[in-house]
Amino acid sequence: MNFDFQYNKYLDCFNDAYKKAILNFDKIPTSLKESMIYATIDGGKRIRPILCLATADFLGVDLELVKPFAVALEFIHSYSLVHDDLPCMDNDDYRRGKLSTHKKFGEAMGVLTGDALLSFAFELCLAKDNFTLSDAKALKVLADFSGFSGMITGQVLDLENEKNNVYTEELLNDIYINKTSKLLTAPLLIASALAYGKYYNELNEFGFKLGLMFQICDDILDEEGALTSIGKTPHKDKEVDKLTSIKVYGLDGAKAKAKQYYSQCREILAKIKNSEFLQEFLDKIYIRKK
Ligand code: IPE
Ligand code: IPE
Ligand code: MG
Ligand code: MG
Ligand code: MG
Repeated sequence: MNFDFQYNKYLDCFNDAYKKAILNFDKIPTSLKESMIYATIDGGKRIRPILCLATADFLGVDLELVKPFAVALEFIHSYSLVHDDLPCMDNDDYRRGKLSTHKKFGEAMGVLTGDALLSFAFELCLAKDNFTLSDAKALKVLADFSGFSGMITGQVLDLENEKNNVYTEELLNDIYINKTSKLLTAPLLIASALAYGKYYNELNEFGFKLGLMFQICDDILDEEGALTSIGKTPHKDKEVDKLTSIKVYGLDGAKAKAKQYYSQCREILAKIKNSEFLQEFLDKIYIRKK
């Protein structure tokens, strides 16, 4: 397997579907069109769509069927970031190496851009004529994992536990599994749903651990990174005394914990046939600098 070749294939596939999707913005107010494109067009690592396309590919699903889900995942993820940056949430002026969406277009527009991206994600997945039971199952994963059974609950717990003296691993995991693991597991389970449930349990387990590892690495980057490398304001977590892995384990402890989850991810992938791309992608995600 040539990793770079495969990676570029998935990225091209995503970009192609993304470009087609944004043609739909032609009928909406120019301000909204501009902000929706601004929030999604560049700077993101596209981890969720690539996870979805790659998993579907090795499970034998035609990538044409996966494309709308790949774009929908990135739209929902981008919306979560636009809202996460709002003054009433993490209040971050920078995202993906540029001004955050509300800083560029105003707060009301930030809220509405997020709302529009969320709804449009579902519209995209529903746009085909021959909608199947597998499509419905995949769409249910997207709804469950991004809504109050997933990311939203995580964000609520994240905000409620700022400046909190309770900081157990149990509470931390509850926050991280919901706010981060769910949106990283959704791509894998969408692919599984489109492949009639293949490796559902293994992929679910992998996604949860991947999310824990991913969020701990994000916490470490917040602690050690710079605006120029991570593309968002560093030291935000400490500023508001968030309940993070650094607070629970200390910086060295967080690094050790990330490594532990990384190893567990590898062990799970070893049980999944043809998952070589995911194994190498996992390595890249683990050692990332942004
Ligand atoms: C950031 O996600 C939000 C977290 C879950 C920590 P990414 O690091 O995937 O953000 P982009 O899409 O690359 O900007
Ligand atoms: C955000 O976690 C997770 C989301 C659901 C958006 P963070 O608040 O740590 O993400 P960053 O650091 O702002 O990207
Ligand atoms: Mg946040
Ligand atoms: Mg944030
Ligand atoms: Mg962070």
